[in-house]
Amino acid sequence: MLDVASIHTYYGLSHILFDVSLKVDKGEVVGLLGRNGAGKSTTMRSIMGLTPPREGKIIFKGEDITGEKPFKLFRKGIGYVPDDRRVFADLSVDDNLEIVYQRDSKWSKQRVYELFPALEEIKSRRAGNLSGGEQQMLTIARALMGSPELLLLDEPTEGLAPLIVRDLEEQILKLKKAGISILLSEQNIKSALKLIDRAYIIDNGRIRYEGTASELDANEEVKKRYLMV
Ligand SMILES: Nc1ncnc2c1ncn2[C@@H]1O[C@H](COP(=O)(O)OP(=O)(O)OP(=O)(O)O)[C@@H](O)[C@H]1O
Ligand SMILES: [Mg+2]
Repeated sequence: MLDVASIHTYYGLSHILFDVSLKVDKGEVVGLLGRNGAGKSTTMRSIMGLTPPREGKIIFKGEDITGEKPFKLFRKGIGYVPDDRRVFADLSVDDNLEIVYQRDSKWSKQRVYELFPALEEIKSRRAGNLSGGEQQMLTIARALMGSPELLLLDEPTEGLAPLIVRDLEEQILKLKKAGISILLSEQNIKSALKLIDRAYIIDNGRIRYEGTASELDANEEVKKRYLMV
């Protein structure tokens, strides 16, 4: 599905990602785990064409998409939920979804509301007035309107109350059941382990570890060295 091959990414002169490689297979939920500033968001931005890599390749369903524009990737079936939960604040929840609707999309608003019934209940509310958890739900719902086969979720539960986090985790599992492949970045390994099949650990812009969720869970040394446990 997704193959990130030896990418190097920079912000101006700062070299941030070094030879980062990772894969997401069809139907998998893959964790990209690491501390603050490790390079998780930069990896997502590299894939999504927001900060394209200067070296290396990104392959999606066999096609080289390195440096492709974000809106084209959305149309090709990559949904991206950035870490900032930005919604169209002046629009209603419903209009936030309507505005990205594509005629040939497999996902309709109705289908999105079936997955997120809580959103349908607040569909007339102004998005700027929603709670953090509701806004996060909305940004995920909006990404679904592109009928993604692959979803990039950048720390979706960060800063949310435990109860809301649990809701979101359930929703992410529903997306997995719907057959969507997911790359999920996360600092909190406990939360990540409930969702992921496999994990990569990134630190200082380099991939330091790769393993299944249960291998990682059993590896106290790696967890202590690279993650907050
Ligand atoms: N726009 C930018 N310009 C310059 N450096 C940046 C920029 N954005 C991020 N960085 C640097 O790139 C490195 C990786 O940051 P990144 O945001 O990818 O980390 P992260 O793993 O997503 O961290 P967090 O958990 O805090 O979201 C950090 O050292 C950060 O300071
Ligand atoms: Mg980040």
